[in-house]
Amino acid sequence: MELFRSRKCPSAGFSSSNTAEEVTRGIDATGLTAIITGASSGIGSETARILALRGVHVVVAVRNLSAGRAVKEAIMKENSDAKVDVMGIDLSSMVSVRNFASEFKSLNLPLNILINNAGVVTYFKLSHDNIEMMFATNYLGHFLLTNLLLETMKSTAHQSNIEGRIINVSSNAHRYSYNEGILFDRINDKSRFNILWAYAQSKLANVLHSNELARRLKEGVQITANSLTPGAVETNIFRDTFLSGKHHHFLESIASSVGKLFLKNVQQGASTTCYVALHPNVKGVSGEYFRNNRISESNRKAQNIELSKKLWDFSIKLCGK
Ligand SMILES: NC(=O)c1ccc[n+]([C@@H]2O[C@H](COP(=O)([O-])OP(=O)(O)OC[C@H]3O[C@@H](n4cnc5c(N)ncnc54)[C@H](OP(=O)(O)O)[C@@H]3O)[C@@H](O)[C@H]2O)c1
Repeated sequence: MELFRSRKCPSAGFSSSNTAEEVTRGIDATGLTAIITGASSGIGSETARILALRGVHVVVAVRNLSAGRAVKEAIMKENSDAKVDVMGIDLSSMVSVRNFASEFKSLNLPLNILINNAGVVTYFKLSHDNIEMMFATNYLGHFLLTNLLLETMKSTAHQSNIEGRIINVSSNAHRYSYNEGILFDRINDKSRFNILWAYAQSKLANVLHSNELARRLKEGVQITANSLTPGAVETNIFRDTFLSGKHHHFLESIASSVGKLFLKNVQQGASTTCYVALHPNVKGVSGEYFRNNRISESNRKAQNIELSKKLWDFSIKLCGK
């Protein structure tokens, strides 16, 4: 039983500069199945590539199916034995999340690993369900998806006797949320909206979610839940902001040149996700926050048990039955 309780894991000695390929070298994950959201670009597509390289049957869960198919093609070109499926999901729509989950369940596949990776940074917008877009996409869609797939993960873990792993890709930005942490009463209040704080709120929610999930996955359930920051990675995450070329080519080119100096590339950016998903040192570790391929400290609000319970109840209400 001790095995599935939260406990520290020995670091395998990797650092911020290690790539996903390096931190998973020698791991044979043949027979495992993983869903990776937002695998059409950036950290998600590299995560898909590496998991497939290690033998995992990867389900690339994307809203842009042609981009998803291109990721699959690139993976198959490098590794013709790879098992990759592409399925459609829009995390900002609860109907779409529910459709994805039922379509996945109808395939009768096992599910060992769920990587909640998709994310956006955007100005004030409401989702299909009238919820602030970053909270809806980065957090709430993943909360619903996880709940809908949990029984499948539990039965896979039970039947295979292999630990299931749920991974929330958060961010160091979780530290910069609103003073209240989560704006429960004013989640859609445009007058309180600030792009950095709102993004941080969604990323704080990712950590609170995995912590609460870890507590709820009681002893005897072989499923762990952890969150992580990939670090600052050179991707398209700012495409809907003033840093995007659509808005300002000059700023984009500065950001890109500075980025090359200070940011991780995607091979490094996907490493902590792949480490937490596959590395044997992470076996039995749950309710932790990882950074640079090792356990790290999330901020005080992220460790607040009352806040995580309140967020859970709030999310259940938002998702309805
Ligand atoms: N890059 C960084 O420095 C950094 C730092 C900390 C944390 N993160 C986190 O890392 C994760 C991956 O981001 P990234 O940097 O790799 O950025 P990215 O290249 O922009 O990837 C984000 C992915 O999320 C998908 N996505 C966005 N909205 C979606 C929706 N409604 N439904 C389904 N998929 C959706 C995007 O799909 P489309 O292609 O269709 O838009 C894309 O595949 C995010 O959670 C982000 O918050 C990134």
